[in-house]
Amino acid sequence: MPERILVAVAWPYANGSIHIGHAAGCYIPADIFARFHRLVGNEVLMVSGSDSHGTPVTLEAEKRGVTPEDVFTEYHNEFLETWERLGISFDLFTSTHTDNHQEVTQDIFLKLYNQGYLYTKVMQQPYSEVDGRFLADRYVEGTCPHCDFDGARGDQCDNCGRTLDPQDLIGIRSRISGDTPIFKETEHFFLKLSAFEEQLLNWMRPKQEWRPNVKNFSIGYLERGLHDRAITRDIEWGIPVPISGYENKRIYVWFEAVIGYLSASIEWANNIGEPERWKDFWESDQSSSHYFMGKDNIPFHTIIWPAMLLGYGGLNLPHDVPANEYLNLEGMKLSTSRSWAIWLTDYLDRYQPDPLRYVIAANMPESSDSDFSWAEYVRRNNDELVATFGNLVHRVLTMSHRNFEGQIPHPGSLDDMSQSLLDEAHQRLAGTASDIRACRFRAALNDNAMVLAQSANRYLDRKAPWKEVKTDKEAAGTTLWTAISVINCLKTALYPFMPFTCEKLHHMLGLEGTIHDQGWQWSPEATIAGTPFDPPTPLFTKLDESVADEEIERIRQ
Ligand code: MF3
Ligand code: ZN
Repeated sequence: MPERILVAVAWPYANGSIHIGHAAGCYIPADIFARFHRLVGNEVLMVSGSDSHGTPVTLEAEKRGVTPEDVFTEYHNEFLETWERLGISFDLFTSTHTDNHQEVTQDIFLKLYNQGYLYTKVMQQPYSEVDGRFLADRYVEGTCPHCDFDGARGDQCDNCGRTLDPQDLIGIRSRISGDTPIFKETEHFFLKLSAFEEQLLNWMRPKQEWRPNVKNFSIGYLERGLHDRAITRDIEWGIPVPISGYENKRIYVWFEAVIGYLSASIEWANNIGEPERWKDFWESDQSSSHYFMGKDNIPFHTIIWPAMLLGYGGLNLPHDVPANEYLNLEGMKLSTSRSWAIWLTDYLDRYQPDPLRYVIAANMPESSDSDFSWAEYVRRNNDELVATFGNLVHRVLTMSHRNFEGQIPHPGSLDDMSQSLLDEAHQRLAGTASDIRACRFRAALNDNAMVLAQSANRYLDRKAPWKEVKTDKEAAGTTLWTAISVINCLKTALYPFMPFTCEKLHHMLGLEGTIHDQGWQWSPEATIAGTPFDPPTPLFTKLDESVADEEIERIRQ
């Protein structure tokens, strides 16, 4: 019976372009995971969308003198194009700016309200006399009381990840005018997080498979005690509060964005004409949900969203939250404002998607921050993709094509060396699978799939079929057939990481259909002697060493 896997990927704010940090944080890992599970034959629903509301988008709009809707539309379209080009295979990438999302959000709001998990309270919020308005969330900044970072915002510190209230900020100031706001009374809705503390601890403590960083952060958060939080704001852009008397307030962007996972699943089900299908992924105990994000998003997915789900009732809590740490660039923290980043649209204008997917997966910040450098990119491209994998494929297919009439050669009987390479292929494919299941993407790639590519190269060097072909053609046929079998295995093992390349390789091997039709399975017998194939073309392009310096220069400009 196939498993049902909900792949829930963090919703990017529609206020700026996607860079490699976002790609490494969640989009590439989520895509590897989803592609793998689809190949295995599991039912996968991978959803996300543009996070369209709240102060991140209004601030950008004000800066440019356009409407929030303009900013949202521009980036939403750009994101869709980026996923297509990078091969991020969402089943649905929607946005929080849809009627459906508004309905689902208001339904959850009302149900939580009616069950007593939301209540109103008059509170103090920063108000600037100079700006003439309340300053929600990102409109104020100051020093974080927990880690001293100067640049923490009204709702969260980007440095230590703690959620904050504006009152917590030391030296609070307006990001519009620099003015020091006063605190003024205003009425808001609160989410009764305190009611869920015990339940959340009991749910989270037994989670064996959670990454230690995710679990420790979340348990620490709960053990410090949960405080009720305001979930409405005095702004105009966002989802209206579905209760009369609050027409000039909007629902807090984080409260509604996490609901997007559910509303997107419902939208997907409607789109495919099976309006009840989302329930398979949300209500069934045959299904599990996996939430991919960067570490700054952890508390919203391990505490706030689960609390909302518990309050709502009847829907599955997150099964795993494999949040990543940060990817740095050339040893420095990525920064959109200082433009220290590699933007995906720019990268994709000039390079292939798969080498980036590969380099990011090989160095994914799974348990600690990692670094992307162009020198490393060039080295991995040249040594690992071109020299190890690409060259293996190229020399085996060229030699076979040339010496065996453009067909897969016939093997004679297999000697120990050939048999043990095929045995290793079985093991490495299984190892890749179990590592991907456990979200150990680096290990899946570096310690399994690519090790098999190295073994295959060593096998070829020892066997030297280019010599065998002159002295013992049957032996050469056996060697090449064995190598092609292993290449066929690598094609499957590497597909979640490099889908474009592996799909191309599938056709180069003379096989019909797609890798998806074939599924996550391999046996040497699948390589059928006598199958015709076209002369191979290179899978990867070698890069000149100078690329690294040129690219760093480009980022500096
Ligand atoms: N927009 C948020 C960010 O970029 C992530 C939102 S994830 C969601 O940090 F689940 F809440 F949508
Ligand atoms: Zn902090």
